[in-house]
Amino acid sequence: MTFNAFQVTKTDEGFERAVVTRDVADLPEGDVLIDVQYSSVNFKDALSVTGNPGVTRNFPHTPGIDAAGIVIESADASVPSGAEVVVIGFDLGMNTAGGFGQKVRVPSDWVVRRPEGLTLHESMILGTAGFTAAECIDKLESHGMTTESGPVLVTGATGGVGSVAVKLLSHLGYEVAAVTGKADKHNFLTSLGASEILSREEMMDGGKRPLLADRWGGVVDTVGGEMLFNAVKSLRYGCSLAACGLVGGADIPATVFPFLLRHVNILGIDSVELPLAEKRRIWNRLADEWKLDLGDLEEALTFDTLSDALDRILAGQMVGRGVLHHS
Ligand SMILES: NC(=O)c1ccc[n+]([C@@H]2O[C@H](COP(=O)([O-])OP(=O)(O)OC[C@H]3O[C@@H](n4cnc5c(N)ncnc54)[C@H](OP(=O)(O)O)[C@@H]3O)[C@@H](O)[C@H]2O)c1
Repeated sequence: MTFNAFQVTKTDEGFERAVVTRDVADLPEGDVLIDVQYSSVNFKDALSVTGNPGVTRNFPHTPGIDAAGIVIESADASVPSGAEVVVIGFDLGMNTAGGFGQKVRVPSDWVVRRPEGLTLHESMILGTAGFTAAECIDKLESHGMTTESGPVLVTGATGGVGSVAVKLLSHLGYEVAAVTGKADKHNFLTSLGASEILSREEMMDGGKRPLLADRWGGVVDTVGGEMLFNAVKSLRYGCSLAACGLVGGADIPATVFPFLLRHVNILGIDSVELPLAEKRRIWNRLADEWKLDLGDLEEALTFDTLSDALDRILAGQMVGRGVLHHS
């Protein structure tokens, strides 16, 4: 059985991309073979495509950390043939051939049954990015954030995680402030529910001061670096920041003052190794009380437009969610 896949190959000149025909027999071992209908584009895929060894070490490789499709062979009765399933994270798309191929084979303990209330297509408009936005909000709320806590700040707001976070927070009744580097996308952010927009430059102001005016009842941070800690310095007393990304840098220029004087928290967010039961719980929320109308977040992609979308993610130019349609 053959299928098409977007493949990255290491050459003497660098990393080359091509759409190739692959054989199912060459997929890694696993107990569930899935006919992938949709995948989506995440920042990590762009790192894989450019050969970042922290993401992918073995080439040729098919990236794609997200996949949604129909089981066509299974050795596990809990995900039988014909079941509609979603796979995000674990090793998918890192060193295991991922969702940019029309078939994937994975261990069954990476697989979540599609929750009722969410189509396969919707699950990939959300994808890892949207799931992570929900995970951030879920964790902030479990640490006390409510709509009474104060406005919630979202950094990297037009990106995948950021745009879903803005939309979901607004849907839940939060007042949302969005940080963006894209001066021409303010209307997009307002349409998602942001009531205040800050520039990246504003968020970089104040780096030398130990504390800044206390403004935020919570923060979803996708950027890291100096922006993350300026946001921590602006948290209201006892409030929290969910740290999930590093597009602006992995190092944090920090002091202990906000923790000692404002009782604030930085909460770590990982969507990759999150245990399957927790993944299922968050997906069920997204399919039920957190269900969004997602049409305004999608950029539909094909094999022909995928490579360009990956370049735009690397350049910080992606807006919303790029969804790869396999048929
Ligand atoms: N912890 C986890 O499990 C997890 C899961 C998913 C993603 N992530 C991480 O979250 C981050 C965002 O992922 P994504 O898929 O949403 O990526 P994305 O779609 O590329 O969005 C990132 C956004 O950040 C802003 N940005 C880009 N470069 C920047 C810079 N140098 N300084 C400040 N802002 C910058 C841009 O938005 P504006 O132009 O609007 O500012 C960009 O659209 C990545 O670091 C990713 O690895 C982590």
